[in-house]
Amino acid sequence: MVETTESLNDAFARDGFAFALDAMPPAEAQTFRARIEALERGPVGHGPAAQKLYRFKPHLLFRWAAELVRHKGVLDAVERVIGPDIMVWAAGLFIKEPHDPTVIKWHQDGYHMGLSDNDRAVRAWIALTETSVANGTMHVIPGSHSKGFVTHAEDDSVRKLALRGEHIAAPAGEALAVPVRLRPGQMSLHHLKTIHGSPGNATGQRRMTLAVSYIAPDVRPRSGRDTATLVRGADRHGHWLPEAGMPEAEFDQTCVAAHTASMQIRLAAYLGATMPEP
Ligand code: NI
Repeated sequence: MVETTESLNDAFARDGFAFALDAMPPAEAQTFRARIEALERGPVGHGPAAQKLYRFKPHLLFRWAAELVRHKGVLDAVERVIGPDIMVWAAGLFIKEPHDPTVIKWHQDGYHMGLSDNDRAVRAWIALTETSVANGTMHVIPGSHSKGFVTHAEDDSVRKLALRGEHIAAPAGEALAVPVRLRPGQMSLHHLKTIHGSPGNATGQRRMTLAVSYIAPDVRPRSGRDTATLVRGADRHGHWLPEAGMPEAEFDQTCVAAHTASMQIRLAAYLGATMPEP
């Protein structure tokens, strides 16, 4: 358990990650889960097709996600790493269903993100359920962030637009990988160069985590044109096109056009420099 500002910063600098950070009480995390599952029973539906909606900037469409990416407990931790001015660039809810065997191979999130400065960004991972080795939590390799980007191989058999299968076959330090065990409402932070991956879910329960890429406003998109949302402090740089504000509803239909516009801008960037999300 990282308990003080100093130890969070020390752990992050040394290891390239920090956890388990208390972002909110377990009961509050469970209310977010309940709101998502109410949507699954209603307009959004269930299963992989429905989950696509959660994979690209859900905070532009869903009230629960807009609240989570702005949550004080989350931002207070993020601020310790990248400072008081904070933007959300990407976010995705990852639901690993019971007995889902999908393995996310070793990778570095920043490899294809195309950000001008990977040290001024951080990936937050917010647990809405318990995360464990058994249910397929993320494993992180200590110190891997300090060795630069490693060339990723591309697996053509799983090549998709949003997850092209880029991976690192046998990274140094693999045997030292640490499982990110969290209770609901806890979170981890990892550097965009930290090598990580996750096994399948061997349990009968869902694993639900919201991953959020936070950036300081001085970071630029290498694609030259992309969108982001300011969630704390001020943007004195103007490198990012602003996004719409808070959705009014859990699935705000008035936000669909803005969400689509943002997705199209990212799609154009994907075609130049793609980005695997998980
Ligand atoms: Ni990742």
